[in-house]
Amino acid sequence: MTLLPCHRRLVLTGFMGAGKSTVGRMLAGRLGWEFLDLDALIEAQAGKTIPAIFAAHGEPHFRMLESQTLATTLGRNHIVLALGGGAPENLTNRLLLEQTPGTATIFLDAPFSVLIDRCLIQALPPEQNLSNAAPPPLLAQSRPVLADLEAAEARFRVRHPIYRRLAHHTIQTAELSTEQTVAAIVSKLGPVRAPVQP
Ligand code: S3P
Repeated sequence: MTLLPCHRRLVLTGFMGAGKSTVGRMLAGRLGWEFLDLDALIEAQAGKTIPAIFAAHGEPHFRMLESQTLATTLGRNHIVLALGGGAPENLTNRLLLEQTPGTATIFLDAPFSVLIDRCLIQALPPEQNLSNAAPPPLLAQSRPVLADLEAAEARFRVRHPIYRRLAHHTIQTAELSTEQTVAAIVSKLGPVRAPVQP
């Protein structure tokens, strides 16, 4: 896929720990586009963190906010949008992504064990080393869906073929740094011209 003038937004998907936000921010910088993180938009609108939304209102309420926020965000142009890992599981969200003209979707893939290790590293306070960590409670503080790792792995298995089917491109990220992942995406997009202003 070449980045054509008709492409107005790039959407990054993948499970938790895939690097959607880190890669998305750097990719947006390369393209001169705006970076948006769906979870951050939901948090800003709700005035609560994602774990607080889950705790106060439950996952179904979070999923409703996620769909509403996705629908409004897809109206914006020249954006790189990082989705939450669960967003593509919802059929309405998939239809929105597939049917909004000018939207290209990129799946950042890695094995479940690699993703969980990355989530754990992100969740650790800087002074704590991995051997002292109590993984599930620590992980759940920032990502409620990781409170039960067996259930999280089952979600991963359900979602993996969905991410693949939805994506215009899949990037295997397990062995790549953020910079290398961005370079791999840019190479799939074809020649990237001078930054396009929104
Ligand atoms: C979720 C992933 C999270 C966030 C929420 C639920 C999921 O986003 O949307 O905690 O169901 O996979 P990240 O993938 O950015 O961690």
